[in-house]
Amino acid sequence: MAKSYGVPVALITALCLVGVAHCVERLVVEGPVFCDTCRVDFATPVSYDLKDAKVKVECRNRTTGVVTISVEGKTGKDGWYRIPVEGDHEEELCEVSLLESPVAECNEQLKGSVHVARISLTNRNGLVQSSRFASSLSYAPKTPVADCVKVLLEMGVLPPDFFLPVGSN
Ligand SMILES: *[C@@H]1O[C@H](CO)[C@@H](O)[C@H](O)[C@H]1NC(C)=O
Repeated sequence: MAKSYGVPVALITALCLVGVAHCVERLVVEGPVFCDTCRVDFATPVSYDLKDAKVKVECRNRTTGVVTISVEGKTGKDGWYRIPVEGDHEEELCEVSLLESPVAECNEQLKGSVHVARISLTNRNGLVQSSRFASSLSYAPKTPVADCVKVLLEMGVLPPDFFLPVGSN
């Protein structure tokens, strides 16, 4: 196998596409982890990015359930993880899950909500490196922060008459 030092990525990509170069398939799984301070299972203006959150990308054989690949990673300053995964896992079931929160006050996983993000790890076009984006994952504090009702009213998530006693209209 030829060494590819100094060769532009675009050229390597082109060589992969025409089958000249032997290319290791490599995909980068990316996604955000945030603290859901309102415990509503979606991002609000008072949510914040979680830096150093530990996550795991794992693929399993669909029929046997045997783990084929398992890679751990962490989020960066911006609350995003970027985890390189090798090989093509087209026929497998792949997902990202949360392993550990970096923040003690925000380390709960809401009951009844989804804590894994499904991803497709196939690379049939043979590009040397490309990203697969997973949906966001979150931890929550034990109790919502004080601003939440105001924030949710502003977002239009709560109806404007939320504070009116029942039957007063
Ligand atoms: C899943 O496992 C079975 C049994 O080992 C194997 O025959 C099959 O090829 C595997 N499927 C994939 C997609 O690797």
